Amino acid sequence: MIITKTHKLPENFLWGASTSAYQVEGENLTHGKGPSVQDTKELPPGTSGLDVCADFYNHYKEDIALMAEMGFKTFRFSVAWTRILPQGTGEVNPEGIKFYSDVIDECIRHNIEPLVTMFHFDLPDALDKKGGWSRRESVDEFVNFARILFENYGDRVKYWLTINEQNMLTLVGEAIGTGNYAGVENKYKKLYQDNHHMLLAQAKTMKLCHEMLPNAKIGPAPNISLIYPASCKPKDVLAAQNFNAIRNWLYLDMAVFGRYNNLVWKFLEEQDAIPEILPGDMEIMASGHPDFIAFNYYNTSTVAWDDGLSPEETARKADQQAGQSEPGVFLSVRNENLTTTEFGWEIDPEGFRATFREIYSRYHLPMIVTENGLGAYDKLTEDGKVHDQYRIEYLRKHIEQIKLAVSEGCEVMGYCPWSAIDLVSTHEGIVKRYGFIYVNRDEFDLKDLARYRKDSFYWYQKVIETNGEEL
Ligand code: BG6
Repeated sequence: MIITKTHKLPENFLWGASTSAYQVEGENLTHGKGPSVQDTKELPPGTSGLDVCADFYNHYKEDIALMAEMGFKTFRFSVAWTRILPQGTGEVNPEGIKFYSDVIDECIRHNIEPLVTMFHFDLPDALDKKGGWSRRESVDEFVNFARILFENYGDRVKYWLTINEQNMLTLVGEAIGTGNYAGVENKYKKLYQDNHHMLLAQAKTMKLCHEMLPNAKIGPAPNISLIYPASCKPKDVLAAQNFNAIRNWLYLDMAVFGRYNNLVWKFLEEQDAIPEILPGDMEIMASGHPDFIAFNYYNTSTVAWDDGLSPEETARKADQQAGQSEPGVFLSVRNENLTTTEFGWEIDPEGFRATFREIYSRYHLPMIVTENGLGAYDKLTEDGKVHDQYRIEYLRKHIEQIKLAVSEGCEVMGYCPWSAIDLVSTHEGIVKRYGFIYVNRDEFDLKDLARYRKDSFYWYQKVIETNGEEL
């Protein structure tokens, strides 16, 4: 299909950008906040702790004013569960309730629609110590937290996201700092039981949202990206279908249709990892109904059939950088058609469009992009500038593909790249920067934390002003 003319984006398109609490706020163990697993994890080597981050906790007014200057229509941020409930359940921290209330008010004062993620990788440590998501109780612990959010912010927040990247928590929890499988006999059994509980918590929360806040909209926020077969060998296509199901469709099939994906089910059977499903669970799953699909997109992956090579040969053939492999199910390989960022992440704007197409043809729900972006070692010049042309290029190419996807009939509600402001990466420190706003600090030298507008700041301002016409 040759597209010669792209369509305009909808007038009410939600332009914005994203952050998450533990990566941006700082003040991680003060003002009544309890520790989350992010605060108690072993720090990745060479990276600083989370006590300051971008110090958004103390700079939120200035930061939201800068977002307003860029023209943001929405700001996606997450609520730290342990700022609201320091132990995960029980006593509420009034200072935490007030903080997010103030952030929400500040957004609204600037005509920015708050887009609130309830849970972004920061499970309360107190709950983790009891067994975290492995326990059945975790379902209602999450729903209790969600209820508190709806009660306190439901009068002002119209858009809610349940769980950020549940699929990454399940697939690569160790890299995010949330996976601890010491002493676990069958890792898959544990992971997919945890996953089942998260899916139940999500379904119950979506239902509760519709009951308590009939005008609000809620959706899941997994990381979805299309998996390519390494060649047109039929077996490579089967491998790509396997990984697409395990990485992507499990999460959306459950959120939207309330059922387990059949390929994943087969995979779980083979791993002896079918989760315990209690009577009534599948009715709960089917009662969720998201209003939209939010998804994070960074890059596609490419996989080959795992033809039963020896472990040494498999390790040699699989490019570790390319991602994970699953013996007998798929083997990740580098896609030689794509360039990479300086952190080795493949760049694939057309894969973005392919991902929109695929999600829309499967689920027919409006979509919003809640993360997409390029991490780089940005440099502040002596006259206070950051020339991040590479980021502009990356974002421009991805927005072009959104426009093409829209012209092909995909319903896209908005675009929130990662990240609004520099913040701490999941495991590569704060020097891996993503923001439109530069935060003047190094990994260990906090400097003055002053904010600077990067070149991408002015570029994005123009993009928003012209509703994506001027890229
Ligand atoms: C997403 C997460 O997976 O990717 C963010 O939701 C994260 O929390 C982002 O920061 C970029 O990844 P990284 O590892 O470069 O920080």
